[in-house]
Amino acid sequence: MQAKRNILVTSALPNANGPIHLGHLLEHIQTDIWVRFQNMMGNRCTYVCADDTHGTATMLKAEQLGITPETLIARVQQEHERDFSGFLVSHDQYYTTHSDENKVYSEQIYQRLKENDLIFTRDVEQLYDPEKKIFLADRFVIGGCPRCKTPGQYGDNCESCAATYDATELIDAKSVFSGVSPVLNNSAHYFFDLPKFSDMLRKWTSSGTLQTEVTNKLSEWLDTGLKPWDISRDAPYFGFLIPGTEDKYFYVWMDAPIGYMASFQHYCDKHDDLVFDDYWKTDSEYEVHHFIGKDIINFHALFWPAVLEGSRYRKPTRIHTHGFITVDGTKMSKSRGTFIKAETYLDHLDPEYLRYYYATKLNASTDDIDINLEDFVQRVNSDLVGKVVNIASRCAGFINKRFDNQLSNTIHAPKLWAESIASAGTIADYYEAGEYGKAVREITRLADNANQYIAKHEPWKLAKQDDQQQAVQDICTMGINLFKQIMLYLKPILPELAQKTEAFLGIQALTWKDSEGFLGPVKINAFSPLIQRMDAKIVDQMIEASKQKPDRESIANDTNEAANTVQAAESATNIEIGDFSKICLKVAKIIRAENVEGADKLLRLELDVGDHQRTVFSGIKSAYPANDLTGKLCVVVANLSPRKMRFGISEGMILAAGTGDEGIFLLSPDEGAKPGMLVS
Ligand code: MSP
Ligand code: ZN
Repeated sequence: MQAKRNILVTSALPNANGPIHLGHLLEHIQTDIWVRFQNMMGNRCTYVCADDTHGTATMLKAEQLGITPETLIARVQQEHERDFSGFLVSHDQYYTTHSDENKVYSEQIYQRLKENDLIFTRDVEQLYDPEKKIFLADRFVIGGCPRCKTPGQYGDNCESCAATYDATELIDAKSVFSGVSPVLNNSAHYFFDLPKFSDMLRKWTSSGTLQTEVTNKLSEWLDTGLKPWDISRDAPYFGFLIPGTEDKYFYVWMDAPIGYMASFQHYCDKHDDLVFDDYWKTDSEYEVHHFIGKDIINFHALFWPAVLEGSRYRKPTRIHTHGFITVDGTKMSKSRGTFIKAETYLDHLDPEYLRYYYATKLNASTDDIDINLEDFVQRVNSDLVGKVVNIASRCAGFINKRFDNQLSNTIHAPKLWAESIASAGTIADYYEAGEYGKAVREITRLADNANQYIAKHEPWKLAKQDDQQQAVQDICTMGINLFKQIMLYLKPILPELAQKTEAFLGIQALTWKDSEGFLGPVKINAFSPLIQRMDAKIVDQMIEASKQKPDRESIANDTNEAANTVQAAESATNIEIGDFSKICLKVAKIIRAENVEGADKLLRLELDVGDHQRTVFSGIKSAYPANDLTGKLCVVVANLSPRKMRFGISEGMILAAGTGDEGIFLLSPDEGAKPGMLVS
């Protein structure tokens, strides 16, 4: 027998600025199945995770909501934990990167890197918002693509022509926060000397630690040469201050993977039999496995091992990389209702349906994984309910009613039984290798065999013959035993169904070696349906519930913005004068109005706002033909952050009354008002 393994497992730390969705669930379900399998094998497998809390995004979201970042991340963590436990994901520890432990380890690792001469500083020139007083990461700058000139592109790449460029190259760049043009500012940044690890990484990435496709991808990067890695960000930033500085913070990706260690440390502190160093010392025999998506390979397979090596810690045993979720062949989309949140799913469907379906699709490659909604219903109903659970429901009634719950002690089909035991090794190998789809196919084959066996012996016919009662008991005993095998093999995927099965059979929690044990002559319990068939209508309802109004990322707000504002006001609660004074309203003159190709309701307006001109998209086309508007005065919300729309950036909003149904009435100051005048 193989010696017991000690394994630490992680899933990537979900960002604390958004909800858990089907993509995260793929990763956590994949990891959870592996962890449950390892524990069933008798290994000591500990599964930790945490919320990834630091960075500008958290800071800004908290600011928007008018709460502290700490309050925000505490709320989000609670939601995340609720969602994961709803999907039966068995993290031993779910923690946060904003913890004392993480601060201690981040500082310690940084000090060690510094001692080893792996940290240096260098001035970096970066776009800066002089009004908001913040350096601007690429996605906080928008402007025209330097190549194809499409307006409204982010600072790193163009959605229209896919060009990549530097944010400084954008045409007429604007800060998304204030709408002002950013300026170039210098500041000292801290760098980790990654190139020193090129040789180590070349060896490490091809040492069997990674899937071949991942190794290949990385060798492309290694071939083009590694660059020093910028690990600092300037204040204001939500994160850990870099020791010895007053306004430099660790970049979120520096302390995030250290969060794996910190979460584990927190768990060790509560469990005397787990020792942190046993797992993390350089020569450890123990294993560390990271499960991640393919978008974050470089952080885990380049930066992280180098940081670990540079700070005298062990490197990961294996990194398991998965692909991305698509729904019905396309990227998850909020407007199509396929951006499905964990919470919405759980309002409608059983978590084990998804666990089962993901398992049928998962393999050791990094290919994307498609959820085909029809196939989803079909797989669950025909294979899980129709094949697996059906075995139990076909046999249990006879044992319950005719034999007083008593199984016989005869192995009625020895060959079939031996085969079902022999599969234990094959299936275990599949789980170990992350080939869950193959495991499920092997298990389904066993279920097909069991169903054929029952169909062939027709216990329901034999039951009518007095001299065949023993045969009926033996056949049904056999069926129930085959069912037990199958549920044992499915247990990593379907923990709740397995638990119900254990209760029905009156047995202890199944482990892998129980595949050798025949149940009989023992008593079982009354059978009750273990899982419901899936209703396709409910899937439709879930999609409906997931549909959101198009947001600014996905598609332009083709709807009437002014009308939306009016509707919002009707249901609004009272605000203080201070709230109102946050809104800067100004008189503007429409100097040009044009139709927008591809948008039914929108006009593109050029506004004179006194000291400058700006572009605003407005949903007033149904009431105001473009050529009627030139020269008209209107009121603009002047300090609305520029919004990226499909057709360009909208720099503000003009006010109108009415809903689209009753007509739309532009608010227009009386003659004499001048563009740029404040409205109060
Ligand atoms: N916070 C970082 C990870 C830090 S790990 C030290 C992060 N967070 S994330 O919330 O954006 O993503 C968390 C994990 O979910 C990543 O592994 C990512 O690949 C995975 N997924 C997010 N969306 C996904 C899909 N649509 N499909 C599959 N997995 C994807 O990255
Ligand atoms: Zn372009």
